[in-house]
Amino acid sequence: MTAAPIGVFDSGVGGLSVLREIRRKLPAERLIYFADSGHCPYGGKPQAQIQQRSMVITDELLAAGAKLIVVACNTATIAAVEHLRATYPVPFVGMEPAVKPAVAATRSGVVGVLATGAALGGQKFHHLLQQHARDVRMITQPCPGLVEHVERGDVSSPELRSLLRGYVQPLLDAGADVLVLGCTHYPFLRAAIAEIAGPHVLLLDTGEAVARQTQRVLEREGLLATQGEGGVEWRSSGDVVAVQSVIDRLWSAG
Ligand code: DGL
Repeated sequence: MTAAPIGVFDSGVGGLSVLREIRRKLPAERLIYFADSGHCPYGGKPQAQIQQRSMVITDELLAAGAKLIVVACNTATIAAVEHLRATYPVPFVGMEPAVKPAVAATRSGVVGVLATGAALGGQKFHHLLQQHARDVRMITQPCPGLVEHVERGDVSSPELRSLLRGYVQPLLDAGADVLVLGCTHYPFLRAAIAEIAGPHVLLLDTGEAVARQTQRVLEREGLLATQGEGGVEWRSSGDVVAVQSVIDRLWSAG
């Protein structure tokens, strides 16, 4: 069972920002990445539909022999991870936006959270804020349109930058000195966001923390691969050739 693959999925290519950290940390693991590009974005979809897609993908990853599944998507984690855990016998590792480290890091007392509308509207996210925000002012900013740019492999066009400025500038004007990248697509926009936010604003994502958590769960369950080459197998519900060319571009940039 230790030689079985880890399944990793996202609505599209965003989860590569998590996959690259898992690959770095656990090079002996075989990884199957599923990009649900035929149904992307999840951000504007109702919870029931995101749950349904998450189950279809989980079924496929389990049929491929997955020993553990990483939900490399904040929106799907918030909408579906509890349901998945209650339904399937394998362990699931989900995303958690970096609210807790942001609260610890802010000096201005204002934090901006960039995420999808569906993620920000989820109960699990509200619970996270209630638990950790304390006396810090958390400003949430849904960012429709960003995911579509990343899905096309666009991380730097003038249109993208102008869309980003509209989302980021109001947070800076409100005094935010930490921005939470609460969607796995957004780490690919880190350079463009940093250009707008400047060097004194901290940008936080949780890809590395999720890779660490994956390792912990594998160790706890006795599932960690300790030898072998590892590698990545790609799958997608979208136009496989188009998705693969974006994956190749983002993967080599990573
Ligand atoms: N990458 C996803 C996330 O982390 C979802 C993006 C989308 O499909 O809207 O939330």
